Amino acid sequence: MASTVIDSLEKAAEPDEKWTRVRHKGRRRPKACHSVAPSYIAGGVSNSVRPSSLSVPAIMEEHKRIKYQWETSACYHGLQEIFESRMSPSNISDAICFGTGSFDPEDSSWEMKRKAHIQLAAFLFIVEQLQRNSSHTIRCIFQEPIFNTSDKAFIRALGHEVVDSPTGFELVSPTTLVFGIHLYRDVYAQIIGKCLPAMFIGTPQEVWEECYGSDPLDWVELNELNKRCDKVKFPEDTGYTTFSSTTIHRRRCNET
Ligand SMILES: C[S@@+](CC[C@H](N)C(=O)[O-])C[C@H]1O[C@@H](n2cnc3c(N)ncnc32)[C@H](O)[C@@H]1O
Repeated sequence: MASTVIDSLEKAAEPDEKWTRVRHKGRRRPKACHSVAPSYIAGGVSNSVRPSSLSVPAIMEEHKRIKYQWETSACYHGLQEIFESRMSPSNISDAICFGTGSFDPEDSSWEMKRKAHIQLAAFLFIVEQLQRNSSHTIRCIFQEPIFNTSDKAFIRALGHEVVDSPTGFELVSPTTLVFGIHLYRDVYAQIIGKCLPAMFIGTPQEVWEECYGSDPLDWVELNELNKRCDKVKFPEDTGYTTFSSTTIHRRRCNET
């Protein structure tokens, strides 16, 4: 995963707004781009359920521990600063989290687990922040084809919904917060294919352009997203790639 691709993005502060427009500066090839998803999960339904090795209480315990550690990090404080001071009242009705990866990965990879837990914690933290400005409860939905039974039961135990692909794509509306870190191009294409969500947290156009080099990106919806949103770089999880190449896009109020 590209860890420093957005190092080359320059933030130019708007005089009256604390949101910044992220501008591209220089061209540096990212280490990797996730253009194509494995065909068995990209748009459709995963046809096999992976066995679980962790119980729900064990996943819950790990989540509490990793979340607690993350809450002392510069990444957390950076996110808090963005959402506390730079957010106008929210019109978000629902929040969809795509592709966190498994909390119980096949190879028990600690790095994958840590990443999934921190991405989950960040997603729920953002929803909590947006909820403060909202009179109604923001519905939280998760779509991740590699979730096994324990992953799904864990998310449901937290009080949220899990849907099978492609249901999540169909639920994206102009009042949705979309959160999807380091996803494949065809997954993002399905997320923004129907309409522009109110907020999109994921890989920005600049990074895709770097991936494609001199080849045309030819992605109308991403171009629209880029043009119609204010952007701020997602704070890095220092020493890890958890949020590398990630930008928070907020559709401007007058743009529906
Ligand atoms: C490159 S991995 C990124 C995982 C994690 N977010 C990270 O930052 O490492 C892409 C993820 O997208 C998931 N994915 C693939 N097809 C998807 C779909 N249709 N809906 C949601 N997630 C999908 C994959 O299972 C995988 O976990």
